[in-house]
Amino acid sequence: MEADNGIEVEGLVREYRKGPRAVDGIDLTVAPGEIYGFLGPNGAGKSTTVHVLTTLLPPTAGTARVGGFDVVKEGPKVRTLIGVALQEAALDPLLTGRDHLRLQATLQNVPKSKRAGRAEELLHRVGLADAADRKVAGYSGGMKRRLDLALALVHSPKILFLDEPTTGLDPQSRSALWEEVSLLRREAGVTVFLTTQYLEEADVLADRVGIIDQGKIVAEGTPAALKAEIGRPSLHAIPRRDADRPEIEGFLARFGEPLESSRDVAIRLRDGLGLTDIVRAVDADGVDIADLELRAPTLDDVFLAKTGRTLEGATEEAAVEHGAGG
Ligand SMILES: Nc1ncnc2c1ncn2[C@@H]1O[C@H](COP(=O)(O)OP(=O)(O)OP(=O)(O)O)[C@@H](O)[C@H]1O
Ligand SMILES: [Mg+2]
Repeated sequence: MEADNGIEVEGLVREYRKGPRAVDGIDLTVAPGEIYGFLGPNGAGKSTTVHVLTTLLPPTAGTARVGGFDVVKEGPKVRTLIGVALQEAALDPLLTGRDHLRLQATLQNVPKSKRAGRAEELLHRVGLADAADRKVAGYSGGMKRRLDLALALVHSPKILFLDEPTTGLDPQSRSALWEEVSLLRREAGVTVFLTTQYLEEADVLADRVGIIDQGKIVAEGTPAALKAEIGRPSLHAIPRRDADRPEIEGFLARFGEPLESSRDVAIRLRDGLGLTDIVRAVDADGVDIADLELRAPTLDDVFLAKTGRTLEGATEEAAVEHGAGG
């Protein structure tokens, strides 16, 4: 492959010495200038993949090329091309935002005469201009995330790795970050590899999505194509009384396969059926339902179809398993 700004991964495996096969043979390609969303529940192997692609961890097997360079044999070349914001930002509470940016500019060999200007520009860019001279100890979680993004951008990387950049951000900061990432791609042609647990984030932001579960990629494609594969919408009925659930389940089973759902009774609607067919039958049979809703397929439906679990459920499960709490 020529030295472009893409990513090519083949048969990548990473096994921790005393741990699981966190990445279990994945193949993926990210085109130059593409935003690739790596979506999966807790413990799926997202961060491990990012660590290998950013040369922080050696792979156990397989190959990965980032910007045309091999992450094992050409680590230093890879590192000059990439910007990285890890899941756990390593910031010094005693330094200010501006201090961090100046330090990072020095580490990244930004010419001395340009460092102050670059710091100023990035502080504005991520909305931290007013807080620039405050110590990071007093920053909120979202401010730290934004500073970490600015740090990743100091040397104008061609390829950007963001590991769960919006976890813990409020909706406003989240959409601001989406905007920023889109802008980087649009204006600077930056390739973005971004991990997330949020369906909506992958859906809105990513050109293509890879869904990872237990170290394996279970689905890959554009959000639209993945959802189109599911095709049929789901139908959700809310029982008026809990005691009515079994009856409603039996009734709806006539119209499609049941879907596991804790809150309502849900089915994947059979081809050719629509909401009106159900409403007519509800009337005819006198079934007591508080509310009926048709939902277009989501990426969670894709995950469910491939793994038998919902992404939200899987995240809860993993959190219990790892004692992570919430
Ligand atoms: N340093 C380590 N040593 C041993 N096992 C590890 C180590 N780091 C991660 N793991 C395990 O590897 C698996 C994948 O972890 P990883 O951090 O890559 O998942 P993730 O998809 O980033 O999850 P999250 O959404 O919680 O950040 C998990 O089972 C985890 O417990
Ligand atoms: Mg992670």
